[in-house]
Amino acid sequence: MKPNFQTASRVREVRYEIRGALARRARELEQQGHDILHLNIGNPGAFGLRTPETMRRAVVRNLKYSEAYGPQTGIFPAREAVAMQFQGRGLTDTRFDQVMIGNGVSELVDLVLRSLLEPGDEVLVPAPDYPLWTAAVVLNGGRAVHYPCRAENAFMPDVSELEKLITAKTRALVVINPNNPTGAVYSEETLRALADLAARHDLILFSDEIYDSICFDEARFIPMAPLASDTLCVSFGGLSKVYRACGWRVGWAVFTGQLERAEDYRLAVEKLAALRLSANVPGQWAVQTALGGYQSIADLVTTGGRLHASRQAVIDAVEASDFLDLVTPMGAMYAFPSIRRDRLPELDDHRFAAELLERKHILVVPGSSFNIEDRHYFRITLLPEAEQLEEAFEAIDELLTEMAESQESTT
Ligand SMILES: Cc1ncc(COP(=O)(O)O)c(C=O)c1O
Repeated sequence: MKPNFQTASRVREVRYEIRGALARRARELEQQGHDILHLNIGNPGAFGLRTPETMRRAVVRNLKYSEAYGPQTGIFPAREAVAMQFQGRGLTDTRFDQVMIGNGVSELVDLVLRSLLEPGDEVLVPAPDYPLWTAAVVLNGGRAVHYPCRAENAFMPDVSELEKLITAKTRALVVINPNNPTGAVYSEETLRALADLAARHDLILFSDEIYDSICFDEARFIPMAPLASDTLCVSFGGLSKVYRACGWRVGWAVFTGQLERAEDYRLAVEKLAALRLSANVPGQWAVQTALGGYQSIADLVTTGGRLHASRQAVIDAVEASDFLDLVTPMGAMYAFPSIRRDRLPELDDHRFAAELLERKHILVVPGSSFNIEDRHYFRITLLPEAEQLEEAFEAIDELLTEMAESQESTT
């Protein structure tokens, strides 16, 4: 057979199960008339969390200036606003030309890796990870080398273990803080150790900080860039999560640290940005408004706020369950519970997620979709109302009870 219609092997190799086969099956069930609770995606707008009104006004007022292609690196007020945020974080010299605006962090991740990787080059990616990072490394000809962030260590990386994975082919180190899927928020000590490691081995640091203002209780977000002046650090942020504007597709990458050495590379990223002409312009007009003034995300994450209450509902449900364990998420908008091995030793996370969908109409993401071997985890988003999550966990416990009973009856 002629290979004309065959999918490229790289694309076949890549997985993105957050929107994969289970999500397709959920759509079929919906078409048959069932209500499905989608706990698979951190999409605030889908759960009634609106983009702040000031941002919506900023876009509407500037629509008439959004009809032409914009500059490939983004419109000036947006870049300047992000630069000023970094000045406020202690990097007082940050200039607008260190900032690139893209169609979400997703696009920028692709551009920075495509500009960097030669075939076989290695990139250190956390496991579990947000699978876009692994996918983008593979699609750009690289090899993702996963460094474990274990539950026993509150999902923090073990930096000395990580160092042993570095080879002559390692080009970059990816850090996701606050973390998706685990909710870990890294301490200054851990971040410093990662920055020092990157500098010692001359690795580019890619710091994905899209959840930067979503921290609970005593957790504090510490930006990587001020700690990483001895290498090139590229920090990522955007409007999707903190500003609840996923659909506008606005993200940014900020280049700091060893800029002179990295000028050729930065220009290469800009060249790829030019090839796609410009990012969506309308949403960029909201960046300045978003980053200035009152940060309404604080109302959602503070004690009693919507996200805090939902997180508490999950913590309480896991506490009450005979089947589940959880490392308390301290940031981002997910929980990553595990199903107790002593209760269900044979459990397979994909089978569990499939049964949960078929029998309880709840869609979660199996833990192994986040590039870990362990088959006892699943990820949910904390975005629904607390009561919805309470009901969901009742259904999860019912299913796990049934699965445990049927396991006992077959052994
Ligand atoms: C860690 C992380 N990085 C990047 C993204 C993508 O963000 P964007 O909407 O800006 O493309 C997500 C989305 O869930 C994420 O969780």
